[in-house]
Amino acid sequence: MSVESTVRAVTTYRLTEMKQRGEKIAMLTSYDYSMAKIVDAAGIDVILVGDSAANVMAGYETTLPITLDMMIYHARSVVRAVEHALVVVDLPFGAYQGNSKVALDSAIRIMKETEADAIKIEGGEEILESVNRILSAGIPIMGHLGLTPQSIHKFGTYAVRAKEEAEAEKLMHDARLLSDAGCFGIVLEKIPAELAARVTKEIAAPTIGIGAGGGCDGQVLVIHDMLGINKGFSPRFLRRYADLHTMMTGAVEQYIKDVKECDFPNEKEQY
Ligand code: KIV
Repeated sequence: MSVESTVRAVTTYRLTEMKQRGEKIAMLTSYDYSMAKIVDAAGIDVILVGDSAANVMAGYETTLPITLDMMIYHARSVVRAVEHALVVVDLPFGAYQGNSKVALDSAIRIMKETEADAIKIEGGEEILESVNRILSAGIPIMGHLGLTPQSIHKFGTYAVRAKEEAEAEKLMHDARLLSDAGCFGIVLEKIPAELAARVTKEIAAPTIGIGAGGGCDGQVLVIHDMLGINKGFSPRFLRRYADLHTMMTGAVEQYIKDVKECDFPNEKEQY
């Protein structure tokens, strides 16, 4: 297999070019082969194997319980499906905080065992040593600032971040540090639109917003949320593009009825 054929159509370099020419970047999460195949074939630019898998796949309240092994399982399933999009994988809680050697080892495991294209980590200046160490190993990094769900117990709430000047200035400072260090993109989660637009203008790295307004270079949503699989999660930033919860419930109810009434299988559906 040639080097070219192992590199997907969307590269980190291509995302930078998109920012420069003002072309918006579309990113969605996926956690399994079948979903990733649909999302990739539809033409998405970036697929994030997010640690939101902890919530939507495993049913945990927060993203904290998911392990590196679990993330690797999800990422391998996604990578097997993807031909076009850039695949980014979250380093989960506990796999990088506080120790840059641990961070590098975790990032190397993701790249080696999943064949994904890049990793994503949450945080700013406090993780800069890890960022530099991972980048120096040739592993592309996407940053994540604003509402960083792995710190939910520190925040105590999923409310909008960086509304106050001090936190907004810290976020601006962190975004500059990550961009200057060489991160190829930064997720900005749940911060005021005006701040996100200012960050986007001031840094070289493309910004990908979730609840951060239209001034970002791109947008990301959790696939289960935008497809309406989750009924109970309705933040203001979420646009639902389908109501799969209702469709799936209807289909399952119909199947149950058909089985109970001996309608399924019929003569044409048997051997
Ligand atoms: O884990 C995730 O899905 C994320 C997105 C919300 C950006 O980090």
